[in-house]
Amino acid sequence: MTLQSTDAMPMLQMKNLSKQFLLHLQNSTALTVLHNFNLTLSQGECVRLSGPSGMGKSTILKLAYGNYRASSGEILVRNTEGQLIDMTQASARSVLHLRSHSMAYVSQFLRVIPRVAAIDIVAEPLLENGLDLVSREQAREEAAHWLSRLRIPESLWQLPPATFSGGEQQRINLARSFIKPRPLLLLDEPTASLDPVNTQTVIEMIVQARSKGIAIIGIFHDDSVAQEVVSRTVSMLPLETS
Ligand SMILES: Nc1ncnc2c1ncn2[C@@H]1O[C@H](COP(=O)(O)OP(=O)(O)OP(=O)(O)O)[C@@H](O)[C@H]1O
Ligand SMILES: [Mg+2]
Repeated sequence: MTLQSTDAMPMLQMKNLSKQFLLHLQNSTALTVLHNFNLTLSQGECVRLSGPSGMGKSTILKLAYGNYRASSGEILVRNTEGQLIDMTQASARSVLHLRSHSMAYVSQFLRVIPRVAAIDIVAEPLLENGLDLVSREQAREEAAHWLSRLRIPESLWQLPPATFSGGEQQRINLARSFIKPRPLLLLDEPTASLDPVNTQTVIEMIVQARSKGIAIIGIFHDDSVAQEVVSRTVSMLPLETS
């Protein structure tokens, strides 16, 4: 099956994207991490961001998700109405709407919500838009499915994940993002802390997402994982120092 066609609809476009960090501890020196970066990601593609540590790979995902604000350029994300919304100009409300319906992000680390059980953290995206199309019980059933698929022992489901191992937290993060399929998926080293069996499960989840037309941009340190899931690689090279 061909997953990528040239007329596939772009889901994410980055145009002349630049990012500088102001380092307040160093007299507000500016650190340029991205300079005029361009990328188009279409339905069903999985683009790998590769390059040495510190090149700005995670920064690109954080910019796309609206965790970081761009210094200049455009980040266009397709919304559920088919319009391209510029994340660099979008209101907070519009960013939240895009996150809820149009894109999911698996960060390297789980942001733990104190005292909330793992199963509810995973179920939450199904309940968060206020319309609650599914009941809490249905959402928990779906969460249980993903927790089982990712081999989280049932004895942990009712516990808050603060004390979970790195690999367990990563799988909670994955379950939470995959429970509600969104057309754009951002993956930051999704298998970094996983054993081979769970890594294989995540590979299958990513391949299935692609076959449904989900557009994926990911950082994969492990070449063998990348080989299974990636359709194209974008190499990030050191910026020329001036
Ligand atoms: N919030 C921030 N404030 C200041 N500098 C930052 C911030 N976030 C990232 N950086 C800097 O931007 C550069 C790129 O970081 P980033 O995390 O995007 O790299 P990466 O390519 O994902 O690296 P790795 O492969 O190690 O994960 C680094 O030099 C980092 O120190
Ligand atoms: Mg990174």
